[in-house]
Amino acid sequence: MTDLKGRLTQAVAAAFAAEGLALERAAVSVSDRPDLADFQSNSALVIAKAARANPREIAGRVAERLAGDADLASVEVAGPGFVNLRVADRLLAERAMEVEASRLAGAAPVAEPRRVMVDYGGPNVAKPMHVGHLRASIIGESIKRIFRFRGDEVLGDAHFGDWGFQMGLLITALAERDSASPFLAEGAGPFPAASPVSLKDLERLYPTAAARAKSEPEFRERARRATAELQAGRPGYRALWAHFVAVSRGALQREFHALGVEFDLWKGESDADPLIAGMVDELAGKGLLVEDQGARIIRVVREGDKRELPPLLVVSSEGSAMYGTTDLATIVDRRRSFDPALILYVVDQRQADHFEQVFRAAGLAGYAAEGALEHIGFGTMNGADGKPFKTREGGVLKLYDLISMATGKARERLHEAGLGAELPTAEFEATAHKVAIAALKFADLSNHRTTAYVFDLDRFTSFEGRTGPYLLYQAVRIKSLLRRAEAEGAAAGQILVRDPAERELALALDAFAAAVQDAYDKRAPSFLAEHAYRLAQTFSRFYAACPVLAAPDEALRASRLAFARTTLKQLTCALDLLGIETPERM
Ligand code: ARG
Repeated sequence: MTDLKGRLTQAVAAAFAAEGLALERAAVSVSDRPDLADFQSNSALVIAKAARANPREIAGRVAERLAGDADLASVEVAGPGFVNLRVADRLLAERAMEVEASRLAGAAPVAEPRRVMVDYGGPNVAKPMHVGHLRASIIGESIKRIFRFRGDEVLGDAHFGDWGFQMGLLITALAERDSASPFLAEGAGPFPAASPVSLKDLERLYPTAAARAKSEPEFRERARRATAELQAGRPGYRALWAHFVAVSRGALQREFHALGVEFDLWKGESDADPLIAGMVDELAGKGLLVEDQGARIIRVVREGDKRELPPLLVVSSEGSAMYGTTDLATIVDRRRSFDPALILYVVDQRQADHFEQVFRAAGLAGYAAEGALEHIGFGTMNGADGKPFKTREGGVLKLYDLISMATGKARERLHEAGLGAELPTAEFEATAHKVAIAALKFADLSNHRTTAYVFDLDRFTSFEGRTGPYLLYQAVRIKSLLRRAEAEGAAAGQILVRDPAERELALALDAFAAAVQDAYDKRAPSFLAEHAYRLAQTFSRFYAACPVLAAPDEALRASRLAFARTTLKQLTCALDLLGIETPERM
């Protein structure tokens, strides 16, 4: 199944060929003048330039050939040599029914499914989440769904930050708090099975320890030693670390679940640890490791670089594995366990250099093929002051607080709009939660990922404008229409295109395929967000212009119900690809 653009491209290519004009690639695009045409081709301009011929004359010949095509209602030459195409109503109806029957709501699957790993979220043990993690979770979840939807075999990995210096900081802080802790004993254990810390403890210990490490060199030194000892396998430290990880991870999993983000794997930096020693030997064997002031590094500069990229630090002077080391070893691990053809790292743009270093090192070491590793960077979510968003207290954001704040706002908005008043309390609460998540996610995903945006809960939660709640409201409206139809015994039937609003809706349904393709190719869910908004708006106009249950005759009613059902199916699908769940009622 191809979308209309694909079909017209073939028709245009055939027309050029029949005129004896060898076109490298026929170009058809959605018309930028919907009042004049549905699609347009500027291929005559392209070929005329190469052949030094008159573009209008070429366009005229091609248009004449196309005029006989029953799929086209009109073919016109415009401007310097554009061919304007209007699709026949019959073809539009056919295409809408294809979308209705399609498992992918009209989108095309990938030609050759690949194994793809999406590395996203990236929360850290004990360290609070920041906006970078929030965006990574929202964008990564959507990208994972888009790839899986088109047929790739996809695994999403949280890549938990559980192995770096912050672990040494925590151990040192705990050692000060409980100097008699059994976990500090040097021997092989056994150590207590109960955690010596709660989540609250971790949340208190970490910031203090981090601050002290900045101001007290002696404390920092101890933390660095603890990190090295942990990584070298000191049993008490490992046991303590396992408790930190479990406590932190349990809490994070709950929060991510509330956000509608589900990882397939909760692997962490530490999972790469058993591979590090072997990897370091191998890197040394390949002559890639260079001694540098007691540390061991890989130089990654390339000829033609515009600026000097620092080397990748593999082993610190204390013998510790660094962030880049675990990332490199994780590539080795992923190759062994899943062998992905592509790994997408959905991480804050500010880490661009880090990934460039890691990718180059992986290339030098022969761990990944050219193009198999991609950093999918994104801008920040800012506060009104233009700086990365912080809570009112000035602290970094806590996912839990953010979600409850948004849910509170969503409740207010529902009340204001007179929505959900008849719902049982539990359902109202679940709906408010869905509205809140839709608000947060849509606000994020409707921007291209590389642009920064300003956090504005009032705007995000509005039921009007380009927002998640608006889209949910439109979806729920269609659901209720379909329920009423069912109660009246009205069934959907064959789709007919008669009214301009029906044409417009059929064209919008057709455009989903291109939106999915763009979102996939550019790893940019914003194309889908844009489509969902356009579809909802187009449906709204259709609904205003074309009575459904009160349609003039039975055939039209059945057709319009089919339109409604297909729109709902595609809209829910688009929202689901954005990670947004649609409630039944409001
Ligand atoms: N934990 C990291 C951080 O907070 C993000 C991890 C991203 N993924 C990766 N493979 N490095 O910055």
